[in-house]
Amino acid sequence: MKILGIETSCDETAVSVVNGEGENVEVLSNIVSSQVEIHKEYGGVVPEVAAREHVLSILPVVDDALVEAGINKRNTKKHIDAIAVTIGPGLITSLKIGIETAKVLSYAWNIPVVPINHIEGHIYANWISKKNETQNSNVKFPIIILTVSGGHTMIVLMRDYGDFEILGETRDDAAGEAFDKAAKMMDLGYPGGPIISANSEKLRETPDAFEIFQKENKLNFPRPMMYSKNYEFSFSGLKTAIRYQLEKDKDWKNKILEYCFEFQQAIIDVLIYKTIKAAKEYNVKTVMLAGGVSANKELRKQLEEVVKTKVSNVSFQIPDFKYTTDNAAMIASAGYFRARKEEFVDWRDLKVDCNLELGK
Ligand code: KG4
Ligand code: ZN
Repeated sequence: MKILGIETSCDETAVSVVNGEGENVEVLSNIVSSQVEIHKEYGGVVPEVAAREHVLSILPVVDDALVEAGINKRNTKKHIDAIAVTIGPGLITSLKIGIETAKVLSYAWNIPVVPINHIEGHIYANWISKKNETQNSNVKFPIIILTVSGGHTMIVLMRDYGDFEILGETRDDAAGEAFDKAAKMMDLGYPGGPIISANSEKLRETPDAFEIFQKENKLNFPRPMMYSKNYEFSFSGLKTAIRYQLEKDKDWKNKILEYCFEFQQAIIDVLIYKTIKAAKEYNVKTVMLAGGVSANKELRKQLEEVVKTKVSNVSFQIPDFKYTTDNAAMIASAGYFRARKEEFVDWRDLKVDCNLELGK
């Protein structure tokens, strides 16, 4: 079953064609036109600017995705079974461009549409086949998914395809947002996650400096809500902690690597602790990682290690690196699992919902 996915919820204009079969999804094309260079200047995404860029990029990106997938545009109906489009959550003006495009294509090509929740898309990135692997036939339910992006941080219990329960969310900043804000405080640029991650890596790779840091770490940032009884998170206190510390420390510019490392580790510690706690409480068979922050190398590595040691009968699943941050292959993948249950809507009923909740 072939699905064309469209994703425009934030600052990436993305279109992809995937082929779903059984429990596996193969990517035939995956085009992402990123606006990151444009928004860098402002230190974050400017909704009005993002929407204008989507308008300009969407049709060329659709065209590239069809060409790359080898699909004849004069006979689309023969090759594409459904169009999957992100309807929320996200920026309303950005989402609308993807949705209107899906409507037009559905109308013109006479192909059904499946509305997709962006977070659900991130989760289904885990079903995209990795090279030389037919891995996903062994993903077993129930699953705990640590879902971490720029807008969301949640622990999700997935009992079956399409059956999601949010066990806990962040009360304030999302993990990715915390990375972005901390990077901004240190004048490191946007988006902050990859920069903080690279700087932490640099410290780890400098043996002397890393040894000294481990012995004399004076930063000791808090691990907010780590031992709270629920699955909620809060990262705004961590942001305040780094701000105060930077203000107090006249020499902070010479300790950027240390600040990045400790900040990243504080976030990782909380995320991992709660994920493992949920995996035990719900007696799951699989632990998964999803969302833009799942690109973080240390988070991927450390969570895998802890799953192995603390819940050794549970399997661990992460999305291929290139499907971690926003893309349309993940939306098409989610679309496949809904399309095979024929969860289509008429193009006239396709509506944006910028606060759409997972599982609703
Ligand atoms: O999922 P995503 O692409 O967009 C949203 O749905 O929000 O996530 C973007 C977020 C940004 O906050 C970015 O800083 C963060 O993911 N991110 C990372 C890394 N790569 C991207 N955070 C930590 N480490 C990374 N390597
Ligand atoms: Zn996202």
